[in-house]
Amino acid sequence: MKVLANDGLAQSGVDALEKAGFEVILTTVAQDQLESYINENNIDVILVRSATTVRQELIDACPSLKIIGRGGVGMDNIDVQYAKDKGLHVINTPASSSHSVGELVFAHLFGLVRFLQDANRNMPLEGDTKFGALKKSYAKGVELKGQTLGVIGFGRIGQATAKIALGLGMKVIAFDPFFDKVDLDLEFFDGQKVSFTVNTVSKEEVLKNADFITLHVPAQDGYVISTPEFKMMKNTAIIINAARGGVIDEVALIEALESGEIAKAGLDVFESEPKPSMKVLMNPNISLTPHIGAATLEAQDRIGTELADQIISILK
Ligand SMILES: NC(=O)c1ccc[n+]([C@@H]2O[C@H](COP(=O)([O-])OP(=O)(O)OC[C@H]3O[C@@H](n4cnc5c(N)ncnc54)[C@H](O)[C@@H]3O)[C@@H](O)[C@H]2O)c1
Repeated sequence: MKVLANDGLAQSGVDALEKAGFEVILTTVAQDQLESYINENNIDVILVRSATTVRQELIDACPSLKIIGRGGVGMDNIDVQYAKDKGLHVINTPASSSHSVGELVFAHLFGLVRFLQDANRNMPLEGDTKFGALKKSYAKGVELKGQTLGVIGFGRIGQATAKIALGLGMKVIAFDPFFDKVDLDLEFFDGQKVSFTVNTVSKEEVLKNADFITLHVPAQDGYVISTPEFKMMKNTAIIINAARGGVIDEVALIEALESGEIAKAGLDVFESEPKPSMKVLMNPNISLTPHIGAATLEAQDRIGTELADQIISILK
């Protein structure tokens, strides 16, 4: 059987599939050539990430397809219900990158509490002439240990982020309309485990009491964080968005930063992605990354293995 991994597949996935007798094709076929390529080569499984789209027309035109697989979470690029109605299996790997996103939240937080977002901008310009002045301006760092992390959206990534926080000695408070309490298992390098229960609280309690706030909600109609929410936060608060652009009102964010309503922010996702607003990009109190939350080698490996396992169990 043939698997076309049109947007690439980690070696772990290729190895597992080949071991089970599948032929894996890693060619990237242009979107408008896909139909003829799939039909000429009798492809059974098409694997995509976010680049390739699999719409009704392609599904109708390619009767050899049995599985559509998405490495990662969102399935906006696949007509999922249509494929399922036609009897195809549609699979994805929603948990594979949770820990990677959690670590990126802490990359932003660790950097922001010690002014790295600003030091990395100013050291190349003034590090040799104004070393002492820069040292003084970054002298009032704070530690994460002992501080309170507020998590809004306590699903897979929110929970993975909370586990890192607990491991660092932080207090965790969380809001999620879906959960009253969540049991987290913290696993250590030698196999020891500690179970920890987090009781969720109201959104207001998180906003008022957290030193740092991190968002892990899906895209939705309307902002989750805008002017009223910023007003409830501590003046020293730092907010991180590694969820989806449009969850934070960026105009309100810049106002809150400029008026001192909150202290700093870390953004991996942007309202006007892939062209974030200049006001956001130029703000010295925002730590920036270009939507790389899931982009670790380990997450790619887990995606490869999880897709391969699912394909093997469906087709073998
Ligand atoms: N930065 C990246 O590269 C990256 C990578 C993967 C996923 N993501 C994004 O991270 C987000 C979370 O992913 P996940 O896998 O944890 O999803 P999930 O479905 O496991 O969890 C989301 C949780 O948010 C809760 N929720 C929904 N609306 C809410 C609201 N208004 N207030 C509070 N809670 C709310 C839901 O009840 C759910 O428990 C998604 O938006 C996803 O697209 C980003």
